[in-house]
Amino acid sequence: MTLNTVGVLGAGAMGNGIAHVAALAGLNVVLVDTAQPVLDKSLATMAKNLERQVQKGTIDQTAEQAALARVKGATTHDALSLCDIVIEAVPEREDIKRAVYAQLLPHLAPHAILASNTSSISITKLGHASGIADRFVGMHFFNPVPMMKLVEIISGLATSPATISAVEALAQRMGKTTIMAQDFSGFIVNRILVPMINEAIFALHEGIGTITSIDQGMKLGASHPMGPLTLADFVGLDIVLDVMRVLHEGLGEDKYRPCPLLVNYVAAGWLGRKSGRGFYDYSTTPPTPTR
Ligand code: 3HC
Repeated sequence: MTLNTVGVLGAGAMGNGIAHVAALAGLNVVLVDTAQPVLDKSLATMAKNLERQVQKGTIDQTAEQAALARVKGATTHDALSLCDIVIEAVPEREDIKRAVYAQLLPHLAPHAILASNTSSISITKLGHASGIADRFVGMHFFNPVPMMKLVEIISGLATSPATISAVEALAQRMGKTTIMAQDFSGFIVNRILVPMINEAIFALHEGIGTITSIDQGMKLGASHPMGPLTLADFVGLDIVLDVMRVLHEGLGEDKYRPCPLLVNYVAAGWLGRKSGRGFYDYSTTPPTPTR
């Protein structure tokens, strides 16, 4: 099955990036968010990020304009009725995802695939909740989507082989490399990456290093493009905490215990870049360490 029209449900950072790369790849895109201000902001961000790529010389102005023209914004689910696939990128909460699937299903075309960008919730469980488990699959993109080359594909227990082949081909058409992951908490990348970030927060909590030394250590000593605390702020500390909780609960081992300092930062509303303050304070240039 060739997928030509892509619906993206949820216009936050991830939905925005997924719509961006799909449109650049020549696909027709319908971006849906029930909140008009979120949708407007997302379309403006997409234009800004495409322009950034023009400035960097990675795309030309014709491609930029064509991509923007291929994206249609909407606030209701019926706009997704002609899509061959809908990629869901709503907040990482099972109750929210379940409610969204219930609203979406009556509008979904009979052949359409439903993919979730979930970073850690069981695809088998979400697939069962969707009512179309054979056409339900995990497509996990990475932030920032236009820059990160990977899509992790996760098969639920009931996902059909035809669904897997179709989304593999789609991700490759979007310029991404795919890997297959088994449906266990955190899949591959977050199972490894997020405990590393959590360990960096423990290192800070225990006074082993400062924010600056921990970040410098991993940048210069392990060639990471961003230090783990900068990356935590970039991803969002609430998301890091959610993933650690899913790993802790799903795998049942103490080694996945969220660092208490991370719990406190989230309790304070210090969520990283998006709230203006996390391990760094973003009101200054360059950002200032907060401890
Ligand atoms: N669209 C969107 N954002 C873009 C972009 C584009 N086309 N091009 C650049 N960016 C963003 C960067 O995030 C950053 O934001 P800022 O301007 O607001 O500060 C800025 O643009 C930096 O751009 P630069 O050109 O200076 O940066 P680089 O080209 O050197 O690389 C990077 C930026 C690709 C983000 C690099 O630092 C990197 O690879 N960092 C690690 C990212 C990572 O590990 N991501 C995975 C997170 S885990 C995840 O997503 C899973 C989830 O489930 C938790």
